[in-house]
Amino acid sequence: MTTPLLTGHPAFKFLAGLASGMPTLTDLFQQNPKRAEQMHIAAPALTLDFSKQRVDAYVLSGLEQLFIQLKLPSAIDGLFAGAEVNRSEGRAALHTRLRLPDESLDRDFPEVSQQLRQMEDLVCKIHAGVWRGFSGKRITDVVNLGVGGSDLGPLMVTQALKEYALPEARDLRVHFASTIDGSQLFDLLEHLNPETTLFLIASKSFTTIDTLSNADTARAWLERVCPDPSLMLRCHFIGISASVDKMEQWGIPSDNQLLFWPWVGGRFSLWSTVGCAIALDLGMPVFRELLAGAHEMDEHFRTAPPLENVPVMMALLGIWNVNVLDIRAHAILPYDGRLKYFPPYLEQLEMESNGKSVTQDGVPIDYATCPVLWGEVGANAQHAFYQLLHQGTQPVASDFILAANRYDTAAEDVSRSINRKHREALVAQHELNIANCLAQSRVLALGNDAVDLTDNPFRFYPGNQPSSTLLLERLDAFSLGALVACYEHKVFTQAGIWGVNPFDQWGVELGKQVALQLQPLLNQPTGDDSVVLDSSTRFLADKIAGFR
Ligand code: F6P
Repeated sequence: MTTPLLTGHPAFKFLAGLASGMPTLTDLFQQNPKRAEQMHIAAPALTLDFSKQRVDAYVLSGLEQLFIQLKLPSAIDGLFAGAEVNRSEGRAALHTRLRLPDESLDRDFPEVSQQLRQMEDLVCKIHAGVWRGFSGKRITDVVNLGVGGSDLGPLMVTQALKEYALPEARDLRVHFASTIDGSQLFDLLEHLNPETTLFLIASKSFTTIDTLSNADTARAWLERVCPDPSLMLRCHFIGISASVDKMEQWGIPSDNQLLFWPWVGGRFSLWSTVGCAIALDLGMPVFRELLAGAHEMDEHFRTAPPLENVPVMMALLGIWNVNVLDIRAHAILPYDGRLKYFPPYLEQLEMESNGKSVTQDGVPIDYATCPVLWGEVGANAQHAFYQLLHQGTQPVASDFILAANRYDTAAEDVSRSINRKHREALVAQHELNIANCLAQSRVLALGNDAVDLTDNPFRFYPGNQPSSTLLLERLDAFSLGALVACYEHKVFTQAGIWGVNPFDQWGVELGKQVALQLQPLLNQPTGDDSVVLDSSTRFLADKIAGFR
């Protein structure tokens, strides 16, 4: 028997019936002065305040019913037990296995701990200067070549946790290059020394043309100076992939191969050996702390009841916003410069996972799924797109993300020589940041009611824009691991409710195929096409040829 689609489900019909009578956020706060006390829940390392969402106790109980009736509890058990949750590709999704504690890994999944150890070994050799470039010099720079999940996760984490880098990692600079046009790599190669640069080629498939073309350029750059090709490959390239064969074909020596497995989705792979760039940049213990935070969140997700479960609650609120209140845009607003790459990271995680319009069974869907998700460091976005959030015509749901403490730990001081005055100035900046974060969610929720009433139309703020705030005690490796895992589980829960497969991405395949088909046609004169092109594509190709 197939599960009924979302909108045909009784619990959904109950929820739909509640929408029109839902008071505004101003009224909800006035009606219940204890609203925030009742509408916040905690998980490892973070607290979710959802009191600024347009929900009440009836909505929450309807959402809980939906969760239960759509059999999400058994879907979650299945995820952890290795059920075939990725049906279109016939496999499990076991990224949670990668962050199990060492004892369980050694006992139950030795292949995972063996790869983790091999990665640790390589990282130690590089940090200790035992691993050397072809001319015998110590490695000073590492470039991670990858794209999508093989780039965004490590890039986001290294940027977020820079100040926690351990002493052994501080002399090594880690860079990222992803773009197919080679421009990021071009900029890096201008400044790097081939004798002291190591490349990580991170690609689950090891067929992604973006990454392989960057890797080929890096190899050509090294070949200019290194006379011995096998020495060059041994000293300057590490491969990270689920395909040993493809790594071998490219020339990665077996000792330089780090593996992960088909059951780790690309956008869920930062916990695997794809995290090598993280361990190199910050130190292996920091990477292990990240895993530990994610594991704690896994346990919370697996065991907490739905309305006390942070990822489940975030997922249910998203369903309410998208499918009942018809809010199709979702802003991610970290009030923390260190989380600069968190919005792009989540754009892939959420939209590549749930931007789908057929169910797991291939049945077309007649309701909305993943909203358009975008974001920016909140305080900067205040000077950019917040105008639309406050006074545009679009309803938008937002996630505010904030760390309560900053500039208060020894780790944060280590890499900067912070004296008392300097620290006080920074702490004052953090206070300002906190005030801005709280002010913005307050104005979004209450509009002019937050401060005054005005009849000036240009200064009219309607409010009633829902948001949640995710509050961390502080941003560190443990809490970041928990935060990322929290969003992963939100995505899985929403996929279960929408009935889609969050672990495939067929929607990106056709574009790649067409690019391969187009490339040889670019320099052919009109009329020689082996495939008939639309007039726009032909026009642009001809115009480009004319400019070259
Ligand atoms: O094109 C999409 C995608 O397959 C993503 O899902 C993935 O993270 C990215 O490309 C990179 O893939 P790979 O790690 O196989 O190079």
